Amino acid sequence: MDASERGRLLNKLADLIERDRLLLATMEAINGGKVFANAYLMDIGGCIKALKYCAGWADKIHGQTIPSDGDLFTYTRREPIGVCGQIIPWNFPLMMFIWKIGPALSCGNTVIVKPAEQTPLTALHMASLIKEAGFPPGVVNIVPGYGPTAGAAISSHMDIDKVAFTGSTQVGKLIKEAAGKSNLKRVTLELGGKSPCIVFADADLDIAVEFAHHGVFYHQGQCCVAASRIFVEESIYDEFVRRSVERAKKYVLGNPLNSGINQGPQIDKEQHDKILDLIESGKKEGAKLECGGGRWGNKGFFVQPTVFSNVNDEMRIAKEEIFGPVQQIMKFKSMDDVIKRANNTTYGLAAGVFTKDLDRAITMSSALQAGVVW
Ligand code: NAI
Ligand code: MG
Repeated sequence: MDASERGRLLNKLADLIERDRLLLATMEAINGGKVFANAYLMDIGGCIKALKYCAGWADKIHGQTIPSDGDLFTYTRREPIGVCGQIIPWNFPLMMFIWKIGPALSCGNTVIVKPAEQTPLTALHMASLIKEAGFPPGVVNIVPGYGPTAGAAISSHMDIDKVAFTGSTQVGKLIKEAAGKSNLKRVTLELGGKSPCIVFADADLDIAVEFAHHGVFYHQGQCCVAASRIFVEESIYDEFVRRSVERAKKYVLGNPLNSGINQGPQIDKEQHDKILDLIESGKKEGAKLECGGGRWGNKGFFVQPTVFSNVNDEMRIAKEEIFGPVQQIMKFKSMDDVIKRANNTTYGLAAGVFTKDLDRAITMSSALQAGVVW
């Protein structure tokens, strides 16, 4: 298939998602407990834009000519890799699906996608839209199933040329191992985080409190880039904590399909219990529980928005990915001190900095060992 035809099909798929937007957003809310308005605006809206972006690239994939000494003519060609396996998680089911298939199809690959076992519904609906858009049979294959069976079959398969994975660090290591033991397929991993968010005393406090709040509480805290370690400069620490607690208490929990709801249930019992266990560890290790701290209601896997202050870097809640609505607020004294502490982690996905000082913002963004700095 020629490149412009690939672009046309991807654009058509984006239009079909737009047509079925209400249905897809409802499925995301029912299947994964995602707040409906967020699914509709952020997830599905983001999918349509990402797919159109990828569609535009299809006929603009260029190689280079490289000047060489002597009688040599050197050029590079960008070629499809071939069959790409794609294993995705449950926190952004449709968005992860699109972020994986969009670039791969735009570049002329075929894909085998395994949705997370908790959230297969939107991927299955996408199968019908892909057919309707007119993609040739066999280009997109959707294989629902469990990780150790369907997922492992992809990462160890001898005829799959690449595997792209988003999920836990633990499984990321298994994928790389399986790729190494089989055909040395290429591997792309997007794993977890314990991302620092650093608030300097000169920041606009209202903005910093609001963004730090959404940074960790958005989608029940189930985001790879969640701002799960908040470092606040000493002189504004108490006021920042006071306002953050006030803000967290305003969060409304309930049925994610209803309007006015900010937080739905966690994805499943395993995640719910893991979060409560980490909250208990925070209490035991001496962090100050400012609000929340337990289960919400007696039906479903809801967790109260929880804020801990007086957190130190050695506590489990400061080190481990909680993946729940739990905010850790730490105090720092100087820029050098906070850079060292922020980087003292095995993760490195994202970071945030709040300051009005441009020099400091730029220094921080290069000193922080994170893939993205906001
Ligand atoms: P997971 O990493 O087990 O699941 C993600 C995907 O990997 C799913 O499709 C699953 O079926 C698949 N998978 C599981 N085992 C596999 C294997 N052996 N081979 C191939 N594929 C496999 O994540 P899980 O168990 O749902 O959540 C555990 C923790 O991982 C969470 O508490 C959170 O900390 C983190 N996580 C991070 C995500 C992110 O966006 N970075 C997304 C989901 C979880
Ligand atoms: Mg798992």
